[in-house]
Amino acid sequence: MLIIQEHDLRNPSPKHSSSYRFNIDSLGTSSPRCQVSLNVNIAEDGGLFSVKDGEAMNVEVASYAGIFESIKQRRSIGHMTQQQPTREQIERILEAATYAPNHYVTEPWKFFVLTGAAREQLGRVMAEALEARLTDTSSHRAQAMLAAERRKPFRAPVIIAVTIPGLRHLHGVEVENIEAAAAAVQNMLLTAEEMGLATLWRTGEAAYDPHVKQWFGLAPEDHIVAFVYLGYPAVSRPTRVPTPFGVKTTWLS
Ligand SMILES: Cc1cc2nc3c(=O)[nH]c(=O)nc-3n(C[C@H](O)[C@H](O)[C@H](O)COP(=O)(O)O)c2cc1C
Repeated sequence: MLIIQEHDLRNPSPKHSSSYRFNIDSLGTSSPRCQVSLNVNIAEDGGLFSVKDGEAMNVEVASYAGIFESIKQRRSIGHMTQQQPTREQIERILEAATYAPNHYVTEPWKFFVLTGAAREQLGRVMAEALEARLTDTSSHRAQAMLAAERRKPFRAPVIIAVTIPGLRHLHGVEVENIEAAAAAVQNMLLTAEEMGLATLWRTGEAAYDPHVKQWFGLAPEDHIVAFVYLGYPAVSRPTRVPTPFGVKTTWLS
């Protein structure tokens, strides 16, 4: 069973019949794993196929990588091209984030999507923050570090900052609101993975710096949980074999 949403229905076969085979293009048209066959009556209405949003249908999945495969395939990818993911893709990632579990339904997250020149502003703020942390700013090494800091946000065409404003005032235990935001970030990474996009969850000292936080309208005690660097991979996915779960697990019965 797959829940079809109206925006998922793109490029249906031109033939108006009860059987459709199409790509769910928001998952990436080129990916065969996203092809599904629909056996359902879809009425044509003014050239548009009317399907009730959120309607549940039985679909035959031709080839589909499930969540487990996406989890296993996902890797941090540091090198991305400057090709920008579409607004629709970014919105799908943000939407996925909002479905993360969160205690007392505090929905603690707030997102900032930075593209284009906004990355330059973030680089400037990050460099200012680093400059304030350095004891000597005049040396050649310090100047090189500041220049590198300024360039960091250009490592990806899109950066999504996942923040928690007003953390102290949220209902519930503080760490649980951070955990909920972290779960939201993982939803984002996996949704991007499913679309064939590259991600890198970055923090670093910049994420904890009050000057950077202030730029995002945060108080010093608030949190930047992640800078999600997002784009298309410029390198092949690195391999990482995690420690087998058996080593980390105690079964009690
Ligand atoms: C909270 C958090 C912060 C991270 N910050 C950084 C970072 O600042 N720079 C970086 O290169 N990777 C960062 N990472 C990514 C990890 O380095 C990466 O997930 C780890 O090496 C495992 O690799 P994988 O994601 O490919 O499985 C961060 C991950 C988490 C969960």
